[in-house]
Amino acid sequence: MNTLSPEILTKLKSILPPASISLDPPVLESYSHDRSIIPAEMPQAIVWPDTAEQVAALLKLCNEHRLPVTARGAGTSLEGNAVPSQEAIVLSLERMNQVLEILPQDFQVRLQAGVVYDDLNRQLASHGLFFAPGPSSGDLATIGGMIGNNAGGLNALRYGVTRNHVLRLQVALADGSLVWFGTRALKTSSGFDLVQLMVGSEGLLGIVTEVVLRLHALPGRQTALAQFKELDSAAQAVYEIISSGILPGALELIDPISIHHINLYKNWDWAEVPTLLIEFHGTPAGMEGEIEIVRALCARLGASKFELATTPKMVTELWSGRKEITNAEEALYPNYTILNGDVAVPLSRYASAVRHARELSLKYDLPMSIFGHAGDGNIHCHTLVPPEDVLALERGHQAADELIRFALSVGGTATAEHGIGLAKRNFLLEEHGASVEVMKKIKAALDPNNILNPGKMFP
Ligand code: LAC
Ligand code: ZN
Repeated sequence: MNTLSPEILTKLKSILPPASISLDPPVLESYSHDRSIIPAEMPQAIVWPDTAEQVAALLKLCNEHRLPVTARGAGTSLEGNAVPSQEAIVLSLERMNQVLEILPQDFQVRLQAGVVYDDLNRQLASHGLFFAPGPSSGDLATIGGMIGNNAGGLNALRYGVTRNHVLRLQVALADGSLVWFGTRALKTSSGFDLVQLMVGSEGLLGIVTEVVLRLHALPGRQTALAQFKELDSAAQAVYEIISSGILPGALELIDPISIHHINLYKNWDWAEVPTLLIEFHGTPAGMEGEIEIVRALCARLGASKFELATTPKMVTELWSGRKEITNAEEALYPNYTILNGDVAVPLSRYASAVRHARELSLKYDLPMSIFGHAGDGNIHCHTLVPPEDVLALERGHQAADELIRFALSVGGTATAEHGIGLAKRNFLLEEHGASVEVMKKIKAALDPNNILNPGKMFP
């Protein structure tokens, strides 16, 4: 790969104004890492384009000169997806943050890729609409980053992950062309599905500049908290809720250690027992019926408490507690290495996967918080490794790998919603086998000079 010579820099300055380029070391440093534990890598430059045409022109230039490019939204990725490739130009989409067109009657929105998730939903709310997946980092995460990782979140159970919402994409390709994929129709049988090829491609196939998303009408909501004596009964309740035909807006499991962290961070006193947070969506009458069914089945499974949130403050507190588990642990254990598990398993194996995570914590003698999107069979398991303890770090990695191998052995995935990035590369082949060769052919066809986020995803 090449370095940014004075000649290339001159060309760069013909594409972007000076305020949209930085070579300043402190700025480069601040873009050298994401939210993962992957070591920082200094980029050669940061660029902040304002338009799709500028993004395309930048890729054309980088392709001609074989300069690697790592696209970046907010850098909230947990697997090193946005850590700059070696000697990369970081292409930040932060300034492309305009919601361009809200189409309430079509339940759609057209926007630039750098719009922040919560900002989008604030604008959509005045039209009675929302973009559903619900990532915990929605206060920062951008729509482009969500597309890059096929992000999920708390409401994916009922509405689907990011993938299920993307209708059209404008993409800048490595050769500098700018193309639209997809249709605004809600179904199509026309051609290869290039939209879905781009979703979850982690910046390796093109850079998404503009998007049309499918939306949902804002539903009525009610939040319930169910507390159990045993983690197993909480996991069984998840299965029974779904098999009763109820599809909650969110169905989240939080284990006692996660709750302990929430309590310490927020100075709260939630009971430190296995807990489900359930959000019912629908009409008042529909939700009332569902709540009674779930209340009864939780009681039958020995729940010690089933409580409805009765005030908006209580609703906000319950969900902010859940969403801030990662924030809490980063704040409480600033010098620890926190290993982020994100496996998903078929629902019948959910309880055994949770049990397995618990056993790994004992076997490897490391504290683990276990929580996640239970209704999707998605477990987050945070292993806390004390600073400067090489042996503990080794054990932590073994525990994390063992949980992934368990997930794969029962037909699950190594990464449900955080992507492969750099951290999960070793598992791509284990999970996909020969189809990795097909992925590599697609990569080579779209990016023959391997300039787009090189080094990521493939082992
Ligand atoms: C969450 C992140 C870790 O669900 O995915 O909080
Ligand atoms: Zn999650």
